[in-house]
Amino acid sequence: MFEAYAQEQLMKKSQKDYLRKLKLSSGIDFSSNDYLGFARSEDLISDFKVKVQSLTQMGSTGSRLLSGNQEYHQETEARVARIFRSEKALIFSSGYLLNIGLIQCIADESCVLLLDELCHNSFIAGAKASKAKSFYFKHNDMNHLRERLIRHSNEKCFILVESLYSMDGDIAPLRDIVQLAEEFNAEVLVDEAHAIGVIGENGLGLVTSLGLEDKILGRVITFGKALGVEGAAILGSETLTKYLINFCQTFIYTTALSHPLLLMLNSSLDKFSRSRKEIQRLHENIALFSKNSGFKYASPIIPWMTETREKAIGLSELVNNNGFSVFPIFSPTVQKGKERIRIVVHSHNTESEILRLTTLMKS
Ligand SMILES: Cc1ncc(COP(=O)(O)O)c(C=O)c1O
Repeated sequence: MFEAYAQEQLMKKSQKDYLRKLKLSSGIDFSSNDYLGFARSEDLISDFKVKVQSLTQMGSTGSRLLSGNQEYHQETEARVARIFRSEKALIFSSGYLLNIGLIQCIADESCVLLLDELCHNSFIAGAKASKAKSFYFKHNDMNHLRERLIRHSNEKCFILVESLYSMDGDIAPLRDIVQLAEEFNAEVLVDEAHAIGVIGENGLGLVTSLGLEDKILGRVITFGKALGVEGAAILGSETLTKYLINFCQTFIYTTALSHPLLLMLNSSLDKFSRSRKEIQRLHENIALFSKNSGFKYASPIIPWMTETREKAIGLSELVNNNGFSVFPIFSPTVQKGKERIRIVVHSHNTESEILRLTTLMKS
């Protein structure tokens, strides 16, 4: 019965030309989230090959609340908290699981979740799973957020934002958001997945670069983007992490991160602490891209708007046929009419690659 249902659904998608397919990516990387080149860093790969010799365990063997909690996890969490200037850190297997579990358990039916309309699907999925009521406010629109807070001023509100938006590449007005939160006694949760390694001199993200650590209930950082590995952590108070250990289902009911992954993460954190040059290089490349494309971009994520799906597909094919790797992004990942090619500039893109791509975009 499922077979027939699934075939029908797939057929409908296919007729609308909306069928998703797995593709192998090749060509010069202008699409991955490997902002600082860590995922393919020869140093990190060699370091891993050496350290892996002394590995004494593969899998963690269980949930963090059962056999899966080992010293290595706790040491890594303490290190992450220190680096990102947080009282505590709690590691999750992925940012997606973290966000769903966090949002699901943070608020009860008496609360209200206020999400920026461009929040990542994982925050939205968490809001859907939560008993709290949820409402969107217009992207980065502080007047609209204020209206929402006024309307729900008798309820406990949680404001959910990204610091660097994953598809539009723009930055949240976090100081204003925090000010509004203080005025209305609301809490703020910030997803810094794309800001780590990108914002701030040391790449510690927007919250730290603005000195707002103590004003934010929780910061989400992920390890699969600039840090080049996988997994994620919530940064926050001891009370928050204790609460999650007790109530967050996506923390409780899953196998803890494996030792090879922790090893890779620790090597990546070593490199991260001395990555100023790569961060500087990334910003030089963003400036070069901006200058030669004629647009002012604030981040490595460049939404090349095409408005239609067909145009996004056609243009991405043209760009990729010239030796690059870019991907078209469609609705429902972005709103209909806001289809685009998501270009990502990295620290390791060369000047000539950037010039070739911007010239092609203009032609
Ligand atoms: C803003 C944002 N948050 C969370 C996630 C999920 O993180 P992960 O890839 O670790 O599951 C992503 C992934 O793309 C993201 O872009």
